Amino acid sequence: MNVVVLLGAPGAGKGTQAPLLAARLGIPVVATGGLFRAAVRDGTPLGLEARRYMDAGQLVPDEIVVKLLLERLGRPDAAAGVILDGFPRTDVQAAALDRALADRGSAVSAAVLVDVPAEELIRRMSGRWICRAAGHPYHEVFSPPRQAGVCDLDGSELYQRADDQPATIRARMDQQLGALGQVIEHYRASGVLRVVNGLQEIDAVAAAVDAALADAGVTAAG
Ligand code: AP5
Repeated sequence: MNVVVLLGAPGAGKGTQAPLLAARLGIPVVATGGLFRAAVRDGTPLGLEARRYMDAGQLVPDEIVVKLLLERLGRPDAAAGVILDGFPRTDVQAAALDRALADRGSAVSAAVLVDVPAEELIRRMSGRWICRAAGHPYHEVFSPPRQAGVCDLDGSELYQRADDQPATIRARMDQQLGALGQVIEHYRASGVLRVVNGLQEIDAVAAAVDAALADAGVTAAG
């Protein structure tokens, strides 16, 4: 069972790389941010609760995120493995994931940090557009859609996330990077951390992720 954690600051490219990697490994992506955005769109109690934190650039409390994630991991399509995009974000979440996987006789196979400097993160988030149907990310300069305002993959409308406004981008970076540092150290200590240079073209980052996973012993069959 492959359990791959994609780590990175807001806007580093996790959501761009995750579906590319899922196609190569044949396992699904679980993106907590995407699950929360779907709950906000559907107006569920979870969405109303999560939105308060997301709009302020803050992390959603651990107990809410862990419950959501564990429910998602329990679905049949996650039995053969999963790519986690945006989880864990705190050391409490990392420990909860370790326990849940240990209960299944498993563990995190690799944690790949997509490393991008702060000034580039701001450029990436302020030019980002994502699709309504599935959250596929585009960038108006670096990765534009073939037709403006329309997703290449599913034809749905593109929009800019509420938390990609300049003030919220700054809040996300101020309030979330410290916790990311703790998660990086968690995986460094367990020996599964791999770091890739995220300041390259999207295809080159994908190749670097593949090389990092091969180094960690993760293969499509695993
Ligand atoms: P989430 O949706 O997870 O947002 P994030 O981590 O802030 O990450 P982003 O989605 O902003 O960036 P990304 O790394 O996926 O970059 P992308 O590929 O889009 O979380 C949103 C909120 O939900 C959080 O703030 C929090 O409130 C809450 N939340 C979620 N999970 C949580 C958890 N576990 N615990 C607590 N709270 C949680 O790329 C960015 C842009 O750059 C795009 O425009 C893309 O086209 C472009 N791009 C990508 N790669 C490249 C490249 N190599 N070169 C040039 N451009 C590129």
